[in-house]
Amino acid sequence: MQRVSVLGSTGSIGTAALDVIAHHPGELTVAALAAARNVELLARQANRFKPEVLALLDGDKVDELRRQLDYPTEIWVGPEGVAAAAAMPEADTVLVAIVGAAGLPATCAAAQAGKRICLANKEALVIGGHLVTRLVASGGAELLPVDSEHSAIFQCLWQGGREEVFGIYLTASGGPFRQFTREQLAQVTPEMALQHPTWTMGRKITIDSATLMNKGLEVIEAHWLFSLDWAQIKVLVHPQSIIHSMVEFTDGSILAQLGTPDMRLPIQAALLYPQRRPAPVRRLDFSTLSALTFELPDLERFPCLSLAYRAGMTGGTAPAVLNAANEVAVELFLKGELPFMAIPRVVEESLAGQPFGRAETLEEILAVDGEARREAARVAGKLKSKKTI
Ligand SMILES: NC(=O)c1ccc[n+]([C@@H]2O[C@H](COP(=O)([O-])OP(=O)(O)OC[C@H]3O[C@@H](n4cnc5c(N)ncnc54)[C@H](OP(=O)(O)O)[C@@H]3O)[C@@H](O)[C@H]2O)c1
Repeated sequence: MQRVSVLGSTGSIGTAALDVIAHHPGELTVAALAAARNVELLARQANRFKPEVLALLDGDKVDELRRQLDYPTEIWVGPEGVAAAAAMPEADTVLVAIVGAAGLPATCAAAQAGKRICLANKEALVIGGHLVTRLVASGGAELLPVDSEHSAIFQCLWQGGREEVFGIYLTASGGPFRQFTREQLAQVTPEMALQHPTWTMGRKITIDSATLMNKGLEVIEAHWLFSLDWAQIKVLVHPQSIIHSMVEFTDGSILAQLGTPDMRLPIQAALLYPQRRPAPVRRLDFSTLSALTFELPDLERFPCLSLAYRAGMTGGTAPAVLNAANEVAVELFLKGELPFMAIPRVVEESLAGQPFGRAETLEEILAVDGEARREAARVAGKLKSKKTI
């Protein structure tokens, strides 16, 4: 029986993970649940799965949470409480499904405590890849990808062959605006951008998918997960989202992982690794697929992807600055305070305004993140007052 702490349990990945856990009662059980402030859903989840510990970022909501629980349990609060839920001895596995840079401290805590980490929170590797991989190695932890593309690569390498990898193809749906002109992109609203053609996801990653920043973050994530050089990581737009990614080997042979676009599949692959079990997921029916198509991403219309490659190659604190600027810009866009096309501008100008050093510790990385957020807010304020972007 694996005892799992689900951090970010009230989100899109968190709820899908609980679905997977419920599907395997003999193999998976919930040790802890953590969320930011959605106490209604957290309480419902807790009453169903009865974990020993709940962690809540917003300490002001603890009483409200306790009132809704039908059993006695510990409630830990704040970022420290969430990190403690990642490290508690009663859990074997930690599924990190917190969104954004906020997932890094818990990921580090799980690594130091030697857990199996099922990582959905790509931002942790983007801003702290160096630190996380070091802590995983020194803490005797295990790092398994949940992101569907990285799970696909991981599954292609399941039988070995890491030494013979020539490169990988990360596939991208292209998002809802794949065929939009620059003029149409300038008119995109949050409502339009929140409609993803193939995946149902949280708000931030849905916007990242529409700008292709999501794919950029995934390139950096892949660099750390699979120890690949930047030139070995290629992106292919594949609008049907059936091939989740591919590995090319030195002899030219390519392995791909296919499946319906449902995150419960990669979540289960990570939670139950190395076992395969029936999953609560619709099977792929080839008779319903007329074509699988591929095209190269358009870096002119979607500059976030090349900004991410550039930040990754620059190294040091550049990816942390890229990520912080993106988080600030996406939040302002979702509030209707910044146009869609200003997102890459905020990121580009924030990157241009920062000297890139090294940040080795969690505290140093979080300090860079904070400073980059202030710079991005300043850049965004300047862009807001402009009539054209
Ligand atoms: N959704 C997908 O299909 C998908 C696919 C691949 C990778 N990912 C990655 O998985 C992560 C989660 O994405 P999502 O789409 O599931 O996001 P989401 O739906 O917005 O959910 C985010 C979750 O994190 C919690 N949370 C936010 N800040 C927190 C903090 N500081 N401490 C503790 N909990 C916190 C939220 O709690 P409240 O509900 O209380 O606010 C919620 O449970 C992201 O890094 C994303 O890139 C997602």
